[in-house]
Amino acid sequence: MGSCMSSRSRVDHSVSGRTGTHYAESEPTKENSRDQPVAPVSSTTTSNAESTSSTSKFSEELKVASQLRKFTFIDLKLATRNFRPESLLGEGGFGCVFKGWIEENGTAPVKPGTGLTVAVKTLNIDGLQGHKEWLAEVDFLGNLLHPNLVKLVGYCIEDDHRLLVYEFMPRGSLENHLFRRSLPLPWSVRMKIALGAAKGLAFLHEEAERPVIYRDFKTSNILLDADYNAKLSDFGLAKDGPEGDKTHVSTRVMGTYGYAAPEYVMTGHLTSKSDVYSFGVVLLEMLTGRRSMDKNRPNGEHNLVEWARPHLGDKRRFFRVLDPRLEGHFSIKGALKAAQLAAQCLSRDPKVRPRMSEVVETLKPLPNLKDMASSSYNFQTMQSDRSRSSNLTAKNGIRTQAGFVTRNGPPMRSLSSSNGPHASPCHHLPPSPKPKAKEQ
Ligand SMILES: Nc1ncnc2c1ncn2[C@@H]1O[C@H](COP(=O)(O)OP(=O)(O)OP(=O)(O)O)[C@@H](O)[C@H]1O
Ligand SMILES: [Mg+2]
Repeated sequence: MGSCMSSRSRVDHSVSGRTGTHYAESEPTKENSRDQPVAPVSSTTTSNAESTSSTSKFSEELKVASQLRKFTFIDLKLATRNFRPESLLGEGGFGCVFKGWIEENGTAPVKPGTGLTVAVKTLNIDGLQGHKEWLAEVDFLGNLLHPNLVKLVGYCIEDDHRLLVYEFMPRGSLENHLFRRSLPLPWSVRMKIALGAAKGLAFLHEEAERPVIYRDFKTSNILLDADYNAKLSDFGLAKDGPEGDKTHVSTRVMGTYGYAAPEYVMTGHLTSKSDVYSFGVVLLEMLTGRRSMDKNRPNGEHNLVEWARPHLGDKRRFFRVLDPRLEGHFSIKGALKAAQLAAQCLSRDPKVRPRMSEVVETLKPLPNLKDMASSSYNFQTMQSDRSRSSNLTAKNGIRTQAGFVTRNGPPMRSLSSSNGPHASPCHHLPPSPKPKAKEQ
């Protein structure tokens, strides 16, 4: 297989603060062991089977949906033109993802640009997540159909090869649009994506035959079709929700640095409210244009939640954390609603967080609101006051993103209330940025 190694020339090292690294913790309360293979998950309710590479045992492990196509390795090698670097769409913890072309209704490879375009994810044998996650992906995604979940077309299991074949999502990941592209995503598109992703989670939590906790909600797992409809991908960490009168699922702590709910990191108790927290982090990334963790920011701004939380509920201050690249092209009412919603989702007490169906209802009107800040006299006055005051003080400090000024470190905004021991859910988890390939 043309491994990612052959594609490394395309790896983009220029983006700071890449946080898309899974972490695994041997026990919830012990120190994290970064870059360790994922250990079997001990859970009260889980459909994730134990790891094995034996193809024969596979059929016992996999309650696979019959509509999935079963590919041979050579099918996929040819479909991706030998996994060539030009076909590389991206790289994650599981392995590399390549663009390919297959017959509309079969498994045979076809000429590029014809038939069905697919994304082929290859399991890196040395990868962190391995067979168990491959299996979980087939098990969950193979049995779940929803417009806001990426469609799993099929899979390949042959000797040591483990591959997954998805519908191709032409606009790539939300991560790419928020943090890599030079053109900022317009406000209404951001709200449309937030709504679509929320519907995906609401389906998993509240509408699926058996509730599912997604556990890996983050911008790189939100893929976009040609019309910016959001679809969730990557079910490798998904878990069946608690059954009967159980309130949570006990698992080893896994997820992605910067997105996991604090109580889950502390206790290993997983509930659908852990996903709601992660949704809050992603909504905040969309509002601010900042990554959930970014070590290249000034002190006090590394952790997005910690930095933004004090501003979110405040009608007069929330706009200070909004992405300056929006340049006033956002709905004032919509931005306030979204900021308040993010604050609720990020509540330290999981019980206070809304259900995803409530999140969907709150978000529904937001993409269509037209009270743009750029045409508001009050907003423009505030903006010019801000830039005047920052010009006056800039001589003694460093101008920050939102036009505010810092003096030798922490910004002048009040951050004191967020600097407590629980302010940073993952502060004890060492980040492990990994290189990331560019999308096509
Ligand atoms: N179906 C798809 N269509 C188009 N591009 C895709 C598709 N699936 C994945 N990609 C691209 O490949 C990249 C890597 O995906 P992958 O899910 O392997 O890793 P990740 O989400 O970036 O990181 P992690 O392994 O931590 O979840 C994605 O960010 C996306 O850009
Ligand atoms: Mg992913």
